[in-house]
Amino acid sequence: MQLLSLLATLGAALGVAAQDDVFRAPRTGAPEGFDGIIPCTFFVEFPTSVVDPAAEVKNHFAKYPTAKYALRTSFSSDLISFASFELKGQCDEDIVASIGGAIHYQAVTVRAPPVPVKDVNPLKSGAPFVHKQDQIHDLTGVNKARNELGLTGKGVKVAVIDSGIYYLHPALGGGIGPNFKVVKGHDFVGNSFNGTAESIQESDDPLDNCSDVSHGTHVTGIIAGDARDIKDPKWAPKVPFSGVAPDARIYGYRVFGCQGLTGGDIITKAIYMAAKDGVDIINMSLGGGPAFNDESDSLAVDKVVAAQQIVVLASSGNSGSNGPFATGSPANAKTGISVASFDNGETYPHLGGIIEGSTYPASLSIAEKVHLQDGQTVELVAWNLTAAADPNNISDGCFKPSNDVTGKAAFMRWGAGVCGSVARCTNAYKAGAIACIIAKNKPVDNFGITGYEKIPGMLLPQEAGDHIVRLMQAGKTVNVTATYQVFAYGQSTGGTLSSFSSPGLDLELNLKPEIAGIGGNVLSTISPHSAEHEGSPEPYIDMSGTSMSSPYTAGVVALLIEKRGKIPAASFKAYLMNNAKPAPIYNTSLTHSPSYQGAGLVDAFGAATAQTIVTPPGLALNDTVNIKNQYTIKITNNYKVDVTYALQAKTAATSTQYLSGDDFPEDQSGTLLTNDQHATVTFLSNTCSEEDTTGTKTVLVRAGASVDVDIQFTPSALAPAGNLPVYGGYISITNSIDESALSVPYVGMIGSWAEKPFWSRNSTSLLKQWLRTLVKGAQTATTGLYADTSFAPLVANDAVNATDGSFVLAIPTYTSRQASVVVQYVGGDNAMVASGFSSNIAYIKLYDAVSGDDQGPAYWQTFQRTSYQKAQGLPANLLYLWTGRAYDFDSKSKLPSLRSQALPAGNFVMRFMGLKNFGDITKPADWDVLETVPFTLVY
Ligand SMILES: *[C@@H]1O[C@H](CO)[C@@H](O)[C@H](O)[C@H]1NC(C)=O
Ligand SMILES: *[C@@H]1O[C@H](CO)[C@@H](O)[C@H](O)[C@H]1NC(C)=O
Ligand SMILES: *[C@@H]1O[C@H](CO)[C@@H](O)[C@H](O)[C@H]1NC(C)=O
Ligand SMILES: *[C@@H]1O[C@H](CO)[C@@H](O)[C@H](O)[C@H]1NC(C)=O
Ligand SMILES: *[C@@H]1O[C@H](CO)[C@@H](O)[C@H](O)[C@H]1NC(C)=O
Ligand SMILES: *[C@@H]1O[C@H](CO)[C@@H](O)[C@H](O)[C@H]1NC(C)=O
Repeated sequence: MQLLSLLATLGAALGVAAQDDVFRAPRTGAPEGFDGIIPCTFFVEFPTSVVDPAAEVKNHFAKYPTAKYALRTSFSSDLISFASFELKGQCDEDIVASIGGAIHYQAVTVRAPPVPVKDVNPLKSGAPFVHKQDQIHDLTGVNKARNELGLTGKGVKVAVIDSGIYYLHPALGGGIGPNFKVVKGHDFVGNSFNGTAESIQESDDPLDNCSDVSHGTHVTGIIAGDARDIKDPKWAPKVPFSGVAPDARIYGYRVFGCQGLTGGDIITKAIYMAAKDGVDIINMSLGGGPAFNDESDSLAVDKVVAAQQIVVLASSGNSGSNGPFATGSPANAKTGISVASFDNGETYPHLGGIIEGSTYPASLSIAEKVHLQDGQTVELVAWNLTAAADPNNISDGCFKPSNDVTGKAAFMRWGAGVCGSVARCTNAYKAGAIACIIAKNKPVDNFGITGYEKIPGMLLPQEAGDHIVRLMQAGKTVNVTATYQVFAYGQSTGGTLSSFSSPGLDLELNLKPEIAGIGGNVLSTISPHSAEHEGSPEPYIDMSGTSMSSPYTAGVVALLIEKRGKIPAASFKAYLMNNAKPAPIYNTSLTHSPSYQGAGLVDAFGAATAQTIVTPPGLALNDTVNIKNQYTIKITNNYKVDVTYALQAKTAATSTQYLSGDDFPEDQSGTLLTNDQHATVTFLSNTCSEEDTTGTKTVLVRAGASVDVDIQFTPSALAPAGNLPVYGGYISITNSIDESALSVPYVGMIGSWAEKPFWSRNSTSLLKQWLRTLVKGAQTATTGLYADTSFAPLVANDAVNATDGSFVLAIPTYTSRQASVVVQYVGGDNAMVASGFSSNIAYIKLYDAVSGDDQGPAYWQTFQRTSYQKAQGLPANLLYLWTGRAYDFDSKSKLPSLRSQALPAGNFVMRFMGLKNFGDITKPADWDVLETVPFTLVY
């Protein structure tokens, strides 16, 4: 009874309560209902005294003769003992929770393979450009560290947890074993791993010559590849290059099969195996995990850092266009390093289009399965020359062709708007064209075309498009010839943040990402299989992503370890961050926010030579409710002489994702980056001098000593309520010896993050972008139940007709640990119990209102906010159809029962419940609860 009354105020979202009779392992992480879980699959952790966790599980199941399970994997070492398995048949979580001796368990989450960003189109294609070998390393002080300090990462052991490595590549040493660059490895899954326990085949050979992208091979080349002196014409690259630390030793851990997904359990095992193998550094270019950092892989990171001082780096993700708070496991681990991406100063396209003797860099469409041949010439016919000639046209290729393109290459001009490249190239295919040639209409960076699989596609730069249009307007026949070579072109965004790089903070407002490496257009090694698949003329390719910036930075850490020896992982993090260089937002003078670039672009020479260390290397100031009165940084002077340090606070951009009055997060184009809302920064310590006119204070630190500097931050009070802007900047610390400056990023939020309602009550932006065609008549989109498609608010005692179906809008404004929607019977009798429910509360059953897909119970844990880019389809979890069905509330597990049933007709309220930021699941006040007026369910 007590339980039900709590439920009535709070809902079913209770933690796992201890049972009297059986041991129940506490469950953490993203469990049942999280979009990305592998159904009925669990990770169970034991004390390290359990050396055979698989046997422990086997013995437990022996007590349940009818229950069947399939072991996925298990591992035990000094640091961990765990097993993961899939329940077969009925998914009875109680069997898992009652495993004696287990410390905790969690659902196994699915991890998608990282998808590189494909774009090799420079801003100015025609510009003369002199390529210099390894110019990429000029941006990051790596060339300086190699040339002046002789660092090559010699002997440093770097683990690559990825899709495997094509180690037979001469640029990667040509083999595996103690005398090769790739020393050893392990394959946790096998070629044909498809996500199931049955398909796992482990071996000690991490070779990958079957994945289309050959992601791990590219990553390895960035860390330690060397393609400078390869003579064999089969392997010699057109643009010779070297990885950051060519003498580092690679340990390859393969967690993806030839295609598809992996699990959080497999990644976790790889982390512990790498630690057992004694590596110095772990790189994980894999993102997309749950937003909270209590997943098994994030916990593993913290454990191996603490126990063995391993430096662990992970990519921050490629969801830059989805707006802030995009950090996920394992990059969100507290003591790991989440790496953002900056663009390279060059791009390396491997396709060119020759038009009347001029060669323009080009890229293939991503989806195409048939390529233009090297040297193949095709005649271009304009789809619609009027549209192609107009730089503001946004629909060329979306409608009927003006000309007959049969047997010719359809030429179109890109202008983002009415339709995408998939539609345009599909139209070209249907109209009988033999190729789909699209030229940019504006000099924009970072975009490629998806195209259509049945027709070759080519994206050309703006200048090529202008050239073609000029010739066509003069009445000439225009041909384009495909040429496969590898070029090096300049890129104007070089040295600034890549547009795809995922911003933080994390959901506890910790500073993530910590630092940036080069990830936008990096040339590296791929397998022969991948070269063929990608239409690359050589086993090297240009790829972009934080998957590239993370290994870049891992390579830098290898140089640092070679120079500084084995010091605590936190010191390496501090050297990296202290010496990184914050950059402005591209094409502006406004320094980018630390929530996007962390401490800035890595500087290997600075980090290897700095004689000063400042800790902590970043200050997360929290929101204005939780900000502390003062923060302290410690400056340690390792010079042989006394040093005077000049301290100065520099402001950076403020990022705002909630616009005035609109409580729904905008996409990136709506995420404002402004030069306001700055905090006032005061250096408090009385060890400081008086401030001079430039706001600079100085502090003297004796040789070999440390000084604490206290700093007070007073956030601006200007922000409109509810906007929750993230402000930030950098404390710069300049020493008197060589005037080199270190910096410490600081970042905070104005407002109360805990009070931000989880459910949207007023979004015009969402309506504008997504729902207008579906939600007719409404001015704003509001979480709630709607009786019909007019989306007029319910009035008390309105009839909701279950036969017709009614509509539910469930609009989260951020990612929560837990959310659900329940109905509660408010009639005086026991109608729900009479019709088979165990109480008068149940989880509603939802269908996707657009596709009709069954969405199951409205119960989510680690509820992910979906992204709302303009170009994407409607996310499935926003607008639902409800037909009066519901899942019983299981009083034992607190989870929805397995089968839904129809509710009886009668009077109900519907309750939307979501745990707010910083919330405690057991405290009713920490929930955002939105209740409808009473309505009458009819049939
Ligand atoms: C996965 O592979 C296993 C065996 O390797 C097979 O039995 C199973 O049907 C496959 N499942 C899927 C979903 O492809
Ligand atoms: C264009 O290419 C076609 C073959 O596709 C060829 O017959 C024609 O001569 C070429 N025209 C020019 C101007 O190069
Ligand atoms: C060609 O494009 C122009 C400019 O957008 C448009 O007015 C015209 O209707 C288009 N022609 C066809 C046949 O679609
Ligand atoms: C901010 O404060 C909240 C509430 O006390 C806490 O949960 C969170 O961890 C804090 N975050 C940081 C970065 O200090
Ligand atoms: C809803 O948002 C719009 C702007 O998006 C604003 O003009 C309006 O005042 C807001 N309404 C409420 C009730 O907050
Ligand atoms: C509910 O809708 C169905 C189908 O349109 C209709 O047949 C039925 O009469 C409606 N029920 C009530 C009580 O209006």
